[in-house]
Amino acid sequence: MKVKVPLSKASRLLNHGPTILVTSFYKGRPNVQTVAWNMPLDYDPPRVALVIGSDNYSYECVTKTGEFVINIPSLELLEKTVQCGTVSGRKVDKFKKFKLTPIPAKNVKAPLIEECIGHLECRLIKSKLTRDYDLFLADVVYAWAEEGTFTDRWLVEKKGAKTIHHLGGEYFTFPDKLKIREW
Ligand SMILES: Cc1cc2nc3c(=O)[nH]c(=O)nc-3n(C[C@H](O)[C@H](O)[C@H](O)COP(=O)(O)O)c2cc1C
Repeated sequence: MKVKVPLSKASRLLNHGPTILVTSFYKGRPNVQTVAWNMPLDYDPPRVALVIGSDNYSYECVTKTGEFVINIPSLELLEKTVQCGTVSGRKVDKFKKFKLTPIPAKNVKAPLIEECIGHLECRLIKSKLTRDYDLFLADVVYAWAEEGTFTDRWLVEKKGAKTIHHLGGEYFTFPDKLKIREW
């Protein structure tokens, strides 16, 4: 038997890729916002898609500069991940307020967050397709992972390498088991 899921909750059936912290650098200072709605689009060239609501200060920062970094927090950063998603950087320096450390990226001005375990430096692809949905498509121009957390995949079975997955509202989950199946 299947039960009806209200359409207002349909996104929650899909939405548990890693929750990310998107950093930007605009008007001389860095900003960071939490984004759960993100996905890979292509391998070669590597491309990603994410939704940044137009009310968010990050929307302005990313649109005006054409650059951002996707930072991947681990379970240890859950509290700060939620905090960065509940306060706007319009007036507050979230790096200072939530004690996050900006470090230089290689190919973009937006910073990496030192405390995160993965980073994708991104350049915006301008597209008419994206206007109606605050959808950002971007090329990945450099990628990093914290040593010991990633080989050809996240080492989610290790402490310190568990990514954060948002189930909607106040619910989060974390990878707990690894299964390897040859194919
Ligand atoms: C767990 C979580 C997930 C979120 N996912 C998104 C998202 O996918 N897209 C989005 O635009 N905002 C999302 N938000 C809300 C923004 O992070 C929030 O509005 C933030 O304060 C915007 O910051 P800014 O004004 O400094 O850009 C999320 C918040 C939380 C707590």
